[in-house]
Amino acid sequence: MFIGIDIGTSGVKTLLMDERQHIIASSHASIDISRPHSGWSEQDPEAWIRATKETLDTLKQSHGSQLSAVTAMGLSGQMHGATLLDKQDKVLRPCMLWNDTRSSVEAAAMDANPIFQTISGNIVFPGFTAPKVAWVKNNEPEIFSQIHKVLLPKDYVRLWLTGEYVTDMSDASGTSWLDVEKRKWSPELLAACDMSEDQMPSLVEGSEVSGQLRDELVQRWALSIAPVVAGGAGDNAASACGLGVVDEGQAFISLGTSGVLFAANSRYSPNPKSAVHAFCHAIPNAWHQMGVILSAADSLSWYSKITGLSPQALTEELGTELQSPSGLYFLPYLAGERTPHNDASVRGAFIGMDHSHDRKALTQAVLEGVIFAIRDNMEALAASGTQFTELAAVGGGSRSHYWLKILATALNMPVNIPVKGDFGGAFGAARLAMMAATKASPSVVLSSPAIEYRIEPVSALVNQYDASYQTYKQLYPAIKNVLS
Ligand code: XUL
Repeated sequence: MFIGIDIGTSGVKTLLMDERQHIIASSHASIDISRPHSGWSEQDPEAWIRATKETLDTLKQSHGSQLSAVTAMGLSGQMHGATLLDKQDKVLRPCMLWNDTRSSVEAAAMDANPIFQTISGNIVFPGFTAPKVAWVKNNEPEIFSQIHKVLLPKDYVRLWLTGEYVTDMSDASGTSWLDVEKRKWSPELLAACDMSEDQMPSLVEGSEVSGQLRDELVQRWALSIAPVVAGGAGDNAASACGLGVVDEGQAFISLGTSGVLFAANSRYSPNPKSAVHAFCHAIPNAWHQMGVILSAADSLSWYSKITGLSPQALTEELGTELQSPSGLYFLPYLAGERTPHNDASVRGAFIGMDHSHDRKALTQAVLEGVIFAIRDNMEALAASGTQFTELAAVGGGSRSHYWLKILATALNMPVNIPVKGDFGGAFGAARLAMMAATKASPSVVLSSPAIEYRIEPVSALVNQYDASYQTYKQLYPAIKNVLS
């Protein structure tokens, strides 16, 4: 038996998987986000531990005998967060999360130093780890001076599970301190931030062993042996492992809190000019590119809070047949944007409202705006040499067929929906755990799930959606100086 744990932004999900990769049980515990100021987004790292403990305690109660047979665990997690620890492993301040953009000044200053893009292969985005630590240095120097280790969110949970300071290559890629091509920390980039390699966790591949579960926890969950804990991965690379997206030409889209267009690469293929992320994959000798928008399903959740209707009720109101584009535009920049604009201070907008627009028109505009932002990402990936002809869809937003029809039509590309199941980060983490324990190869473990159905573009509307996208593309340049 294997366990996969995903430390998500809105909660922790833990699942139990057997040797045939069947999911036996899963458990979820929610976590809150605190947004004390515009652009800030924080969590208390202890909340991740509390939630992880809760999910495993629940699995012990419901599936104790299967849980006792676990031989390996794997971790997936929201990327980029800066968890700062002192010498006693005490958390020095709330973790600044991936969608916290307060460090845009520090990020721009670092990005202006060419060594960052050259060595890390990526723009220094405000959401990445290094500029956050630079913000702490500038604004909370007494905390900066006490930093003993900087851990990513899932690696703080690993420290609690194993007592080891370790991260994996995929998650480390999002710090701005990794030499992504050579898969090692860059002393040069660390020195440019007044940091050193001693303050970093050690590095393993996602499918390697990073440590073993501590005795106290082995006893708590009545396990028969101390399972090994695999390196695991950042949530996007972990989802890719869950979906078997590991070979060149394979891609998926995740419509979660963030929106991610992810493509696997057999070679390191950086292209910071188009704000594409070029990261290590979770398995050796593999890389990936991705475009990231900061508010995907989050945009619909925001609109749902305002209207008082659930996201499901809002999308169901649109019916099942895809409508023509609404003519109303929504820019989904509620928390700023990464790919392709790299603009932390821009904010969202509805543009083009008239008397005829009702709640349904606004819902349609929100769904379209998120997909047009994803199309921006597809064009950024294409400009970086990455092509694909179909893609799988996962994440909360992929439960809406209507949204998927907009996606397929606006991208003019079929979208595959895997058979009912759970192929997200927790499953990918369980698969990496299986690889760490059994040494089985990626081709054996990381297969793609069967496709339950495929959403084809609505051909009669492809041109209309394309025309609407062309208008959408002109809106960011038009508003950026007003809203940034
Ligand atoms: C990726 C990113 C997000 C988070 C969400 O660069 O910032 O997808 O990983 O959990």
